[in-house]
Amino acid sequence: IPIERIRNFSIIAHVDHGKSTLADRLLELTGTIKGGPSQILDKLQVERERGITVKAQSASLLYKHNGEIYLLNLIDTPGHVDFSNEVQRSLSVCQGVILLVDSNDGVQAQTVANFYLAFVNDLVIIPVLNKIDLKNADPQRVTNELKSLFDINPADVLKISAKLGIGVESVLESVVTKLPSPKVDRSANLRALLFDSMYDKYRGALSLIYVQDGCVSLGDSIATFHNKKVYEVKSLSVLRPDEVPVKKLVAGQIGLVGCNMRSPKEAYVGDTIHHTDCTVEPLEGFKSSRPMVFAGVYPTDQSQHINLRNAIEKLTLNDSAVTVDLDTSPALGQGWRLGFLGLLHLEVFTQRLTQEYSAEPIITAPSVTYKIRLKPTKQNVKDKSEVMFVNNPAHFPEQNRIEQTFEPMVIGTIVTPDKYLGPIMSLCMERRGVQRTANNIDNSRVILQYDLPLCEIVLDFHDTLKTISSGYASFDYENNDYIESNLVKLGILLNGTLVDELSHIVHVTKARTIGRQMVLKLKEMIPRQMIHIAIQAVVNGKVMAREDLKAYRKDVTAKLYGGDVTRRMKLLAQQAAGKKKMRMVANVSIPKETFIEVLKK
Ligand code: GTP
Repeated sequence: IPIERIRNFSIIAHVDHGKSTLADRLLELTGTIKGGPSQILDKLQVERERGITVKAQSASLLYKHNGEIYLLNLIDTPGHVDFSNEVQRSLSVCQGVILLVDSNDGVQAQTVANFYLAFVNDLVIIPVLNKIDLKNADPQRVTNELKSLFDINPADVLKISAKLGIGVESVLESVVTKLPSPKVDRSANLRALLFDSMYDKYRGALSLIYVQDGCVSLGDSIATFHNKKVYEVKSLSVLRPDEVPVKKLVAGQIGLVGCNMRSPKEAYVGDTIHHTDCTVEPLEGFKSSRPMVFAGVYPTDQSQHINLRNAIEKLTLNDSAVTVDLDTSPALGQGWRLGFLGLLHLEVFTQRLTQEYSAEPIITAPSVTYKIRLKPTKQNVKDKSEVMFVNNPAHFPEQNRIEQTFEPMVIGTIVTPDKYLGPIMSLCMERRGVQRTANNIDNSRVILQYDLPLCEIVLDFHDTLKTISSGYASFDYENNDYIESNLVKLGILLNGTLVDELSHIVHVTKARTIGRQMVLKLKEMIPRQMIHIAIQAVVNGKVMAREDLKAYRKDVTAKLYGGDVTRRMKLLAQQAAGKKKMRMVANVSIPKETFIEVLKK
């Protein structure tokens, strides 16, 4: 297919506005798939269970327009803010996007964020209103919103129902007529961008590539810039959306390359692939996304260490946004400190570890990265005082060494019907937010901007916002700078022993409330045991809150009167199994979910 008849595009939208459904319809309409299961591109079990897309997936469609066949490369992208790096990456190989908006919900926070992502990348934007079949659909109102917020010409707005297949053809027509073909050169030397990778049991690491220049064939000898290793191309395929083997990929095409990369680390996302016998300029890679939330990940017991290490290695190949550092904890042993883009990202990653690799890790309380300026010591008094970054409460310095503390901020965007304005403003205030702007989108909805501390939004801000607005408000954020902030370490003591795995860095004004919440939650979560347990929250040696858990002998068979031996054995076995999921910390068994649950309200 000649370059002029290639189009690369992506569908971007707020969560649940119908991207995956539209992708299904486009695949059907182009004969790529025949009806059958829905949400074809959501392949992962976690995606199906949660009903959300977490991985961008690609599919190559063939579409006939004016008697000529066009190759349309569609990249389905996830909508949730935690996965915006996937969106960014997909956009880098596209010339245009379909901006999909629910014609009942209207423009939402991530519609705004995604629009600007496409806009600053200079992509052609095809505005599409979905779900016009809904009783409450109001395409006119939403068209006006697009006009007033993004200056989109109402005449350009398509109106469709992805579910019923109404107007879907017009989307394909627009893709063909409005988007430019990619600027690629088939006569030049091979340059291909490695923009995603995944692990295959039999073939090792597979790379998803976009061929920018030249072509690549089976048997070719190729190399990458990053690790400078040489590989032979063993398999090539296009995704329709299942793999279809091909002998050659030419400039403008997207496909999977297998070349016996043994270690997942070799497939470096953002790398340029070239032929070994030619020198070329590397393509612009990706800005690596900065992880925002860190948590310790530990095997349930050390015999699982190697298993967990392999699982983490393979999964990070398919999720390059996760950062991995070794870490040890006195209570939990050898493990890792992993960095994520947000809490949902963390949850999805650990769920995938369990579901796809049968690993059952313990996850510690998540933390953001704080900046701390230490007091000058005698030796360095003349130099500038030392600055350190801390994302693990265990590394928080003693109070008397600290000169200043800083925390990371975000600029949050909230879109909401105005009747929830009151509770939302109180929520933002409670989370130490400062309002920047408030504007009307139309006569019943507002868009707000707030400066908020990152640590206040990572955990449960989004859920709370949804709850107080009956699901109507939406939220998105971008990272901003550090500001000075009075931070302290809230330590948790179990029978007088400090458990750093449960400790937390907090704003000084929150220490007492959070301390109270945590000890109450711990009292609820830790089962009564043979010994009396004192649970305390302390700041600089001062007790903020305390609860006591009375000793209790947990003999599950005590209540049975003699007799039935099998029943007794069964119960004892159950008790043993129950213990397995516990972790001994400071002589106290703690259920393994405690570390993360304790922070949720
Ligand atoms: P994420 O993958 O989480 O980002 O969501 P998505 O944007 O891919 O949304 P998805 O396609 O999963 O659709 C969300 C819900 O909207 C599903 O229940 C769909 O059945 C429904 N839906 C999608 N399109 C239409 C439509 O045209 N009309 C109606 N009534 N419902 C639709």
